[in-house]
Amino acid sequence: MNNKHLLKLADLSAEEITEILDLADKLKYERKNGVEHKLLKDKTLGMIFSKSSTRTRVSFETGMYQLGGTALFLSSNDIQLGRGEPVADTARVLSRYLDGIMIRTFAQSDAEDLAKYGSIPVINGLTDYAHPCQVLADLMTIREYKKTLGGLKLAFIGDGNNMANSLIVGCIKLGMTVAIACPEEYKPDADIIAWGGETGKLTITTSPEEAAKDADVLYTDVWASMGQEREKAEREKAFAGYQINDALMAHTKPDAIVLHCLPAHREEEISTAVFENHADEIFEEAENRLHAQKAVLVLLMGA
Ligand code: CP
Ligand code: NVA
Repeated sequence: MNNKHLLKLADLSAEEITEILDLADKLKYERKNGVEHKLLKDKTLGMIFSKSSTRTRVSFETGMYQLGGTALFLSSNDIQLGRGEPVADTARVLSRYLDGIMIRTFAQSDAEDLAKYGSIPVINGLTDYAHPCQVLADLMTIREYKKTLGGLKLAFIGDGNNMANSLIVGCIKLGMTVAIACPEEYKPDADIIAWGGETGKLTITTSPEEAAKDADVLYTDVWASMGQEREKAEREKAFAGYQINDALMAHTKPDAIVLHCLPAHREEEISTAVFENHADEIFEEAENRLHAQKAVLVLLMGA
């Protein structure tokens, strides 16, 4: 992989994404067969969190351990960053102790600045703009279930948020088409829509049925993301009708899979019945966070 960081999938070529997915598959398969991969012996990953996390925190921490290294949980409330120490200074200090940084925060520019001012690899563990690690696990999961990616259709139903942004870029780069169904005021970011539009592989509609038509993969995410808690009531109104349920599933291909980055809000963006019918896929997807991120860590921080 030529890239020094994983800040957003737009920075990676299709070949680089495929390299990550191939290594992730290999690490997953070999580990299940008892092979150890101490590829990051003595290396330390710092993990800065300005937002909550279950999957990202635990999968990165476990991943570093399995690779022979260690991970430090750095809540932004507990480090000086949370008291106003500039990102540029934090980056230069942490670069002298650590071998890599994962950051979960609000502004994409903070992740980019960490990379700009530091001298070690930076991994975006979610910003308001992008969630590249999640989409690597998603692509890995789709490939596991469908054996291929090229030509498949993914329909995303709900908020045009960080997940929608990253799915558009990751899926289209690997040859899929993407349909987003969202209310007019909740579209993905303008630069992503423009990029997707140029590829001819992105459709944006307000109709969940139109988006879901003949889809191979149906995807959704919460209506109110972290940081948007105060908009919850207004969003519940705007997104009524944007639920993945049995009625919507009738429009997809019969063998469609359903993915959700989690955490899920049952009976909001997804019905309990669809969630439970597709729980195997959704929890395989969650597991794949571990394998996909181990591949990223090895490629960015390995010898
Ligand atoms: N999907 C995801 O990133 O989960 P967490 O917020 O629990 O890390
Ligand atoms: N869109 C959600 C994703 C959580 C993994 C959020 O940003 O909160």
